Amino acid sequence: MTSTTSGLKINAGRLQRRLDDLAKIGAIEGGGCARLALTDEDKAGRDLVSGWMRELGLAVTVDAIGNVVGTRAGRQAGAPVMTGSHIDTVRTGGRYDGVLGVLAGLEVVESLNDAGVATEHPLAVAFFTNEEGSRFAPDMMGSLVYTGQLPLGGTLAVRGIDGTRIGDDLRRIGYAGSAPVPGPAPRAYVELHIEQGPVLDHDGVDIGVVNSVQGISWTEIEIGGVSNHAGTTPMSLRCDAGWVAGAIVAYVRELATELGGSQVGTVGRIEFFPNLINVVPNRAVLTVDLRNTSEETLRLAEARLDEHLAALRDAEKVQISTRRLARFAPVPFAPQMINLVESHARAQGFTTRRLPSGAGHDAQMLAAVCPAAMIFVPSVEGISHNVREFTHPHHIEAGANVLLSVLCELAGATRPAGA
Ligand code: GLV
Ligand code: MN
Ligand code: MN
Repeated sequence: MTSTTSGLKINAGRLQRRLDDLAKIGAIEGGGCARLALTDEDKAGRDLVSGWMRELGLAVTVDAIGNVVGTRAGRQAGAPVMTGSHIDTVRTGGRYDGVLGVLAGLEVVESLNDAGVATEHPLAVAFFTNEEGSRFAPDMMGSLVYTGQLPLGGTLAVRGIDGTRIGDDLRRIGYAGSAPVPGPAPRAYVELHIEQGPVLDHDGVDIGVVNSVQGISWTEIEIGGVSNHAGTTPMSLRCDAGWVAGAIVAYVRELATELGGSQVGTVGRIEFFPNLINVVPNRAVLTVDLRNTSEETLRLAEARLDEHLAALRDAEKVQISTRRLARFAPVPFAPQMINLVESHARAQGFTTRRLPSGAGHDAQMLAAVCPAAMIFVPSVEGISHNVREFTHPHHIEAGANVLLSVLCELAGATRPAGA
């Protein structure tokens, strides 16, 4: 019954004010945010957003992995149409990654409340725990547990880069909730997110219609060598864990460049021990992030990395062990959901482009249990996971209005008689 709500628009100023208010929590120099999952800053952000949910009249639940879901009742009981994303950030995050999807969801709810619009099905706004995965692996942890793709018990025992256990931190910040996991499958899930890449901004397109999310492979590599004196140990007698780590960094770049296409490869974290100028490192730990839209090529990249690790191990006589931190195959979204987003964006006069997502998202996990879709808005210069992340207000408004009309159709919205 979209036609009866087709004139409805979100309040862009109100959405910007909420974005500004949440950005004050964990604010860092340069205008960005540091709200690593389950830190005090994440707790303060959670408190603010769940407070807004309650003010809007939503019924708020917190589950055992700390996912927060606010639900607006529909005429019928049953599975809600869900929107949302995450409010945790990387340590050097921007103001929009994840946050936009959650706060735009609240803005949709407030716009429906203001206009007295009822929906046939309930409408839920969720923020999922630890989408970023920077502190605790894997990423998309909350939505994986919500959808039954990761067992709760083992997940609560996961330790972060600082040694803290997820379960302890959830209790510490008061978000070890009682709602059961896996949670109930929504009727459908739609997530608004910034693109975080350069395509839409570069080509001057208003709305990205996401057709898939690329596959992700995260590995932690630990190298064991022998510490020795930097001045006295001949090069031929070294078992240098630091050199092997450096060689892996260089190889990951070579590998991604050689495979080409959508293949990307990143070493984002590296640690040396004892980390002293005049001691050959006896231990190094680093992470490798490989991604590709093709599962076949991603597997090839993993196999080539493994071969290279074996060659380095033999050449430098070190020990190398690997630990898989995350592994997700590429996820295509349902064609009817892609078409739905595209038709609503075009009906509002926006230019659109179908594209795959380079970043991981909660929507790819929800896609395992219900029809899911994503709406992208342009990121200026494609910059993200950086304090300079920026999306123009008119694009935020455009994306939120597309979200509003898609959710109205999926939830069966109707205006009150006479409105
Ligand atoms: C998580 O959001 C990622 O794509 O790294
Ligand atoms: Mn995100
Ligand atoms: Mn992110």
